[in-house]
Amino acid sequence: MESAMDYHTALALLEWQIELGADEALADAPVDRYAAAQDARAQAQASPEPKKGQPTPPAPKPKIDPVAVAQDMAARVRSLDDLRAAMQQFEHCELKRGARNLVFSDGRPAARVMIIGEAPGRDEDREGRPFVGRAGQLLDRMLGAIGMDRRSDNAEQAVYITNVLPWRPPQNRDPKPEEIQMLLPFLRKHVELVKPDAVVLMGNISCQAGLGKRGITRLRGHWTQAYDTPALPMFHPAYLLRQPHAKREAWADLLALKARLEAR
Ligand code: URA
Repeated sequence: MESAMDYHTALALLEWQIELGADEALADAPVDRYAAAQDARAQAQASPEPKKGQPTPPAPKPKIDPVAVAQDMAARVRSLDDLRAAMQQFEHCELKRGARNLVFSDGRPAARVMIIGEAPGRDEDREGRPFVGRAGQLLDRMLGAIGMDRRSDNAEQAVYITNVLPWRPPQNRDPKPEEIQMLLPFLRKHVELVKPDAVVLMGNISCQAGLGKRGITRLRGHWTQAYDTPALPMFHPAYLLRQPHAKREAWADLLALKARLEAR
């Protein structure tokens, strides 16, 4: 006879599974996908052609292309509010199911500088705002060092902040290339609506999305173009927390950003 499990044991087991990375309840027992695939193949081979006069089976549903859906939705967007709503309605990214919140942006849309990070972490997922955890606090100090502040009402000093992905990847894993691709139409539209004078590409994922390449150690500090806008790749603040010696380069890049803004 099965023994009933008490509420607290069940909750502790569930929390433990979430810690291990489980983010979806599928079935009570494990599923052997290899056996299932073999069965499906065998069935397909065994099923006879429909005879004359017999109804033909329904055609398989056309496969949805999430990138095309995102492009189509983004093309219809006219404002930041529209964009947020469109992203809320986009159902083709698995990350959305595991996230608590859509992390859209923070700061001032009128700002001359737009910072593009990677993806929300645990704190950002909880609060629904980008860069609010330890890396975000360091980012605020870095910006403060060149007189910039995401809360400033002065467009010269203000910044606008978003991420490549608006939903937290489970266990903070790296975003997959297909996730970046399907969310890129929204990010392009985001930059188009904000029209910043400069974008800062924070870290490799942001460079991957904006420039189609990684290699932040080589890319950082060199002005380039991304989203039809002057773009400066920089070390990600989370990297600077792990490698404080790289703050010297980050400081040089911040000064380059400030000089560029003052020159225009
Ligand atoms: N790292 C990011 O790239 N973005 C955030 O919002 C938080 C941490």
